[in-house]
Amino acid sequence: MSPGVDFDPKLPSVIQDPYPLLHALMEQDPVHYSRRLGGWVLTRYEHVRNGLRDPRLSADRIRPFIEHLPPAERARLEGLGHHLGLWAVFNDPPKHTRLRGLMNKAFTSRAIASLAPRVGEIVDELLDGLMDREEADILAEFAYPLPATVIAEMLGVPRSDVHLLKKWSDELKSFVGGARATPDKYDRAAQGIAEMTDYFARFIEERRRRPGEDVTSALLAAETRGDFLSVDELVATCVLLLFAGHETTTNLIANGLLALMRHPDQFEALRRGLQDAALVESAVEEMLRYDGPSLSSVRVVAEDFELEGARLRQGERVFLMNAAANRDPRVFPEPDRFDIRRPDNRHLTFGFGLHFCVGAPLARLEGAVAFPRLLSRFRDFELAVAEPNWSDDIIFRAMTALPVRYRAAAGASVTG
Ligand code: HEM
Repeated sequence: MSPGVDFDPKLPSVIQDPYPLLHALMEQDPVHYSRRLGGWVLTRYEHVRNGLRDPRLSADRIRPFIEHLPPAERARLEGLGHHLGLWAVFNDPPKHTRLRGLMNKAFTSRAIASLAPRVGEIVDELLDGLMDREEADILAEFAYPLPATVIAEMLGVPRSDVHLLKKWSDELKSFVGGARATPDKYDRAAQGIAEMTDYFARFIEERRRRPGEDVTSALLAAETRGDFLSVDELVATCVLLLFAGHETTTNLIANGLLALMRHPDQFEALRRGLQDAALVESAVEEMLRYDGPSLSSVRVVAEDFELEGARLRQGERVFLMNAAANRDPRVFPEPDRFDIRRPDNRHLTFGFGLHFCVGAPLARLEGAVAFPRLLSRFRDFELAVAEPNWSDDIIFRAMTALPVRYRAAAGASVTG
């Protein structure tokens, strides 16, 4: 039992800055049972990393959740449960292997690298929209639309529909992200998923008739080569890619810019080194580690086992706190220091093991293209509010807005 650390993830001060509490847990009660969260909370790097690849911890967490609901609610959320149960991230082998294999074929490193010029154009276009002003919500106007546009284009979805996908994705976010203060989150998620599923079912049929150069067509082609996926599974995979493809990368850009603004020496070092691709890459890795988009990954105990004297029992939930592991001093010297040149940065922000993020190369590419352009076209960034507001998710580490003041750099002009 906990020797004195009261883990309350709902406290506003903890939502704003979870790291002091995560440090306290890591040192005093690394295998903590939280009644508030209804599950175990693991904070040490070694435990989180091992947990992510331990077959005794199952990723299949939607089915048990739905099965434990009272009958009336279960019936209401059946469609949502069915759909999310088809997402690779919520499945164990062998089903996971099949779903993941198909995505791997469409998301090769070569395919991602070839996107760089197009990502650059999208970045420039969005930054053009910031030129004639000195204040903006950089999250809403840059960090969000960049990855949303990139993943929508990759899937072949028309740009005019991106706003619809945002609405549905937002509806799903409170449920998947485990937000606590959204009372109607189940109904909203069920509604969002129903509309998104309907959209993609029609879209996939259209692509079957008229294939394009997009990932959806590649998934369909892989299917017809014999990697059979049901239409439901194809639809679910498109929805997962769309959702995962932008909810998190938004936070890489927004949280990364906030970290830079709070560490002017590092901001200046990056600005001076923008031509150095290795430095930019290393800075993006540090943004991912220091205050990255993942707070935790959730698993369910599939088989009883002991950890540090605690007994984890079948059916219990386990919160593997990636954000805590990324600040474990046993692995990262001076873990609370934001250091864009940090060597050997083995953070767990993209997970580890079988479920390691399919989109990691894409997210890294977007970061590596976005920051040099943002920093060379604008300067003197500062927060336009005393403290940004953070969402109360337990899975994602996300601000709700990032209002900043800035000035256009001398000589910067609208592109194109
Ligand atoms: C900085 C941005 C991103 C972060 C921090 C991130 C983080 C993660 C994490 C932690 C996982 C593992 C979850 C678990 O083990 O339960 C994951 C899985 C996944 N991510 Fe990402 N992600 C990012 C961007 C993307 C992008 C751009 C895409 C798609 C294009 C994507 C698609 C996926 C998919 C499909 C999975 C499931 C993989 C599987 O279950 O095998 N992610 N991501």
